[in-house]
Amino acid sequence: MAKTNLIAGLDIGSGKLTCIAVAYDAETNMLKVMAGRSVPCKGLRGGMVSDIRETSAAVTHILGSIERECNHEISNLFIGMRGAHLESFSNHGTYNISRLDKEITQADMDLAVENAKAMPIKNDNEIINVITQGYSIDKQRGITNPEGMEGSLLEVDVHITTGSSTHINNLAKAIQRPGYKIDGTFYSLVPLADCVLTQEEKEIGALILDLGGETMSVGIYIDGILKFSRDIPYGCDLITSDLSRLLHTSRQHAKEIKEKYGVSFPTFLDEEGEIPVPSLDGRSTHNIKKSYVLDIIQPRVEELMEQVAHCVDTSGYKNFPVVGVVTGGGSLMPGITDHCVNILGLKEVRRGIVQRDLIISDDAFFDPQYSTAMSLAIYAATNADEEYAGGSYDKESSVFGKLGKWLKGVDIFGG
Ligand SMILES: Nc1ncnc2c1ncn2[C@@H]1O[C@H](COP(=O)(O)OP(=O)(O)O)[C@@H](O)[C@H]1O
Ligand SMILES: [Mg+2]
Repeated sequence: MAKTNLIAGLDIGSGKLTCIAVAYDAETNMLKVMAGRSVPCKGLRGGMVSDIRETSAAVTHILGSIERECNHEISNLFIGMRGAHLESFSNHGTYNISRLDKEITQADMDLAVENAKAMPIKNDNEIINVITQGYSIDKQRGITNPEGMEGSLLEVDVHITTGSSTHINNLAKAIQRPGYKIDGTFYSLVPLADCVLTQEEKEIGALILDLGGETMSVGIYIDGILKFSRDIPYGCDLITSDLSRLLHTSRQHAKEIKEKYGVSFPTFLDEEGEIPVPSLDGRSTHNIKKSYVLDIIQPRVEELMEQVAHCVDTSGYKNFPVVGVVTGGGSLMPGITDHCVNILGLKEVRRGIVQRDLIISDDAFFDPQYSTAMSLAIYAATNADEEYAGGSYDKESSVFGKLGKWLKGVDIFGG
């Protein structure tokens, strides 16, 4: 297969892998989705590898089929990880410019960031991402790029994510085993929040909630800066388990019922009707009222939202988010945004997908289930001229308006 600048974002999900591959489109001067796919993976639990062989097989399957569909090799692969082992901190770094020439250089900025990274990290943990959120020069805040400006005291705000080296290494092994090279690893919420929230939402104070199968990720933006991020090790597959147990049906059928008929708020119960439920052995069906499905789903969704509320309460930023954006597969449940308004006390909540002006894509991929994979690819591609160091990646805060230099000069599949 020919070499090309095909950039893939691989979302390491709950029990599945989701991948979006993008390339630069010279005609429109934009990124374009070339292929996207999601495959089940039995080797993952809550975003962590529980079986390397199963995960490697799923990686081979999904990346192989993306490459065949594009008829090109993936040139850069970026991984989005999640899980309760991840921890995020906001930190502050300073650097005194004591030279006579006070013009700030990239090296000064790097040193300020290095100082911000000097913080205690748990044993067996390592830094995954350091996001530069903004600089100040001689106490003047709100400077996005101080290079070339004059000053004596350079300060920087960063958001740092750390994770368990064991989990990170197992994930890397599972991906490298079939021969793929990882160009960068992100905590998946970071690109997601960047690509799904609007700049206005980030400024006013926004909560992003990624509702997955086995995890929920919570991020809080204040004054345009990601202040807090955390993963909660529960998700919407619990609704599936409840339906399966209480309706005496298989998990697969319970999942189908949830996704087809499930609503979590009474106002979304459009008509009183009955739903066929296959028995556990699949040999017979019995009918239940739609309202019974709501009766099962509603308390579980409320419980999940209470967990999110608890996470926000302990974040130290409880009263800051004004608006909310829910994404991920679980956001497709009708009524979910109403729970966010009621339980999280937000003024306005919307369902979120990647902002359409960031990328050209078939409508099928502008779907909350693809939000993470698509954000990963966009985030990596738009920052591709930055340095990727080891498994981690330092970047400036916003992806908007930037397109990696090395990517931009190359036509889609231009070799
Ligand atoms: N239409 C739907 N209504 C309700 N829940 C849904 C719907 N579609 C998907 N889900 C749920 O979303 C969860 C998966 O979220 P997703 O973001 O796709 O995966 P991951 O956990 O890998 O991030 C599952 O619990 C799934 O049943
Ligand atoms: Mg998801």
